[in-house]
Amino acid sequence: MRAIVLLCLLEAAFADMIYHWDGPGRVAPDPNTGNACHTDPGSCGCCLMQQKIHRLKMYLNGTLNTLEKEYLEAKQSLHIIETSRTAFSVGLYSDDRAMCYGPYDFNSLIIYKQVFLNLGGNYNVETGIFTVPRSGVYILAVTIYSDAGAPGAKLAICTSLQVDGQVVVGTKDVNTYDQEDSATIVVALHLKAENQVAVNLPKGCFLCDDNSHYNTFSAFLLYATE
Ligand SMILES: *[C@@H]1O[C@H](CO)[C@@H](O)[C@H](O)[C@H]1NC(C)=O
Repeated sequence: MRAIVLLCLLEAAFADMIYHWDGPGRVAPDPNTGNACHTDPGSCGCCLMQQKIHRLKMYLNGTLNTLEKEYLEAKQSLHIIETSRTAFSVGLYSDDRAMCYGPYDFNSLIIYKQVFLNLGGNYNVETGIFTVPRSGVYILAVTIYSDAGAPGAKLAICTSLQVDGQVVVGTKDVNTYDQEDSATIVVALHLKAENQVAVNLPKGCFLCDDNSHYNTFSAFLLYATE
């Protein structure tokens, strides 16, 4: 800005020397008489330049305002992404011994005790329930394994993934010709904040595991929708 003002002054001075210099003691043109552009081309150029500078300033101010607004929006989105990090992965037992979970003569929620990851702390290791922290699209996965114990014994490997007590997807294999079996559920769901997600073990079914962690339950937020 200072440089431009100086340019203006220089231009005025230069124009003076060429067109209006009448020697020492000359009287400056009166800006009130007639058009200043005719009487003083130097200051006219300066005035035009100032108008252009003003327009440029307005343009730049507008652009800056737009950029600032977009920057704040992007920053806010990033903040939402950072504060909604949610992921957990749990296994059935934290014990080294081979054990089976069930069968029970009632439906029950599976309480996974081995926590591999519980980012956000939304999986409750006492209840087996994942409470959805914020609405969004989640990926959920359940892998199960069971062992009937002996050839010809009855295998009953089944579970269901539930949201607020309602079965969303299930897996089931009951027979006497497989001693061992496994199954996996993977699903993307649009869940709402406060939804309770858990894995149900239906009546009569049982899962077996050891320190290899064949039975896992995992979920993570793909993206938040609010
Ligand atoms: C630039 O824009 C802001 C926001 O509209 C306004 O408050 C400010 O006065 C403007 N500045 C200039 C120099 O026009």
